[in-house]
Amino acid sequence: MATTRHILAIDQGTTSSRAILFDATLRVVATAQREFPQHFPASGWVEHEPEDLWESVLATCREAMAKGRVSGNEIAAIGITNQRETTLVWDRRTGQAIHRAIVWQDRRTAAACAKLSEAGHDSLVSERTGLRIDPYFSATKIAWLLDNVPGARKRAEAGELAFGTVDSFLLWRLTGGAVHATDATNAARTMLFDIRRGVWDADLLKILDIPASLLPEVKDCAGLFGRTAPEHFGATIPVRGMAGDQQAATIGQACFTPGMVKSTYGTGCFALLNTGSEPVISQNRLLSTIAYQFGGKRSYALEGSIFIAGAAVQWLRDGLGIIEKASETGPLAEAADPSQAVYLVPAFVGLGAPHWDAEARGAIFGLTRNSGPREFARAALESVCYQTLDLLEAMQADWPGARQGGSVLRVDGGMVASDWTMQRLADILGLPVDRPEVLETTALGAAYLAGLDAGLLPEPERFADLWRLEHRFMPGMAATQRERLVKGWRDSVRRTLTA
Ligand code: G3P
Repeated sequence: MATTRHILAIDQGTTSSRAILFDATLRVVATAQREFPQHFPASGWVEHEPEDLWESVLATCREAMAKGRVSGNEIAAIGITNQRETTLVWDRRTGQAIHRAIVWQDRRTAAACAKLSEAGHDSLVSERTGLRIDPYFSATKIAWLLDNVPGARKRAEAGELAFGTVDSFLLWRLTGGAVHATDATNAARTMLFDIRRGVWDADLLKILDIPASLLPEVKDCAGLFGRTAPEHFGATIPVRGMAGDQQAATIGQACFTPGMVKSTYGTGCFALLNTGSEPVISQNRLLSTIAYQFGGKRSYALEGSIFIAGAAVQWLRDGLGIIEKASETGPLAEAADPSQAVYLVPAFVGLGAPHWDAEARGAIFGLTRNSGPREFARAALESVCYQTLDLLEAMQADWPGARQGGSVLRVDGGMVASDWTMQRLADILGLPVDRPEVLETTALGAAYLAGLDAGLLPEPERFADLWRLEHRFMPGMAATQRERLVKGWRDSVRRTLTA
């Protein structure tokens, strides 16, 4: 007899789409993954083809269902999680995007952002949205589309167009154009959302000249978002969970208590510290954001966003050609010459938190005639560790609660499979680093949200008890060595910054 006790998590990321099918105890039944092309039409520009996003999602969902021998009517709920900030505008009648998606990494609106700052809007943006004026967020990307796609502004004003981050776009497509909605965590990344009141901000919409008619309805992270059109999966499946990927990972890592912090190492690295029911406005150039919203109640996080983490390893593979597979990097780094102090500052698309230098570009320091692939590999992996240290120090300076929660960092994402990198991270942070048994934390978070709303899974406190440690990496480096290494990093960053 068919049971509807499976949960399908859609994880639409920056370089690939994944579908993970879970059973009702959150055991992984089947997974599917598809990479799609990245488009770089100009320096600092990054775009995705909307149909690639949609088709890769549809294909991976169907593949995971086929692998798990689970039909549409055996799936109780879908949860969506996604690369955040990436901006799409589409025609409400046809569902067709008016331009390629402008990806979160894209810097084309750097000048527009500088103008907003010059006009004195920094404090308004930070007070209302918890963010800082930066091309990273959706707002200036929407304005760019309205100003640069012929006829777009007129069509937007006539109510013909819809804006969405990737979650909204997928929801629109999955429901056959019936639902235009997002969740509070994704809305919080647009630079248009008042994170305290939980509403789109009329003042910011006016300043950016963005018509409110473009915007999706904002909902809780767990709730009924809509039902899939039957042609997609042979059944109408309710979509019951939604969160941006970093917030979904925070949920998947069960960081529900203020003071708990997780760091996810994907294309970029994003550390989120749960600060509880009040947003903490950073004095150290971090972001304040919504961690999750249940029953209309928001919990907040301080976030440090690093744009290049796993992408530095991709660069070793695709840019330099010194490795064939990412998994070679750890062993290579381990064999590096300890007497060489080679530092990579991976500012390939500028630097994010806590520097926020959109114009900086990558640099490498300390090369000698003996420097080679091993030292490059170590420098790439260590750059991720040093950047994490910069974020955690900023968090501790911003909020005393950052020292609570056991002073442990929970980690996940592709890079954490490397024991060498995680040990180095613990050494450089001087903190224990906890790697959980389930590394699919982003998908797990989305599945949890959907399963919670479907009544299959317990409340957050009980879900937190199910989190299991796989390995704790304890810091072991001598303080003098650590200080020397960190000083070398700080000098390298200083020489890379443009201002
Ligand atoms: O803010 C961007 C972030 O959501 C992208 O995540 O995992 O695709 O690098 P990821």
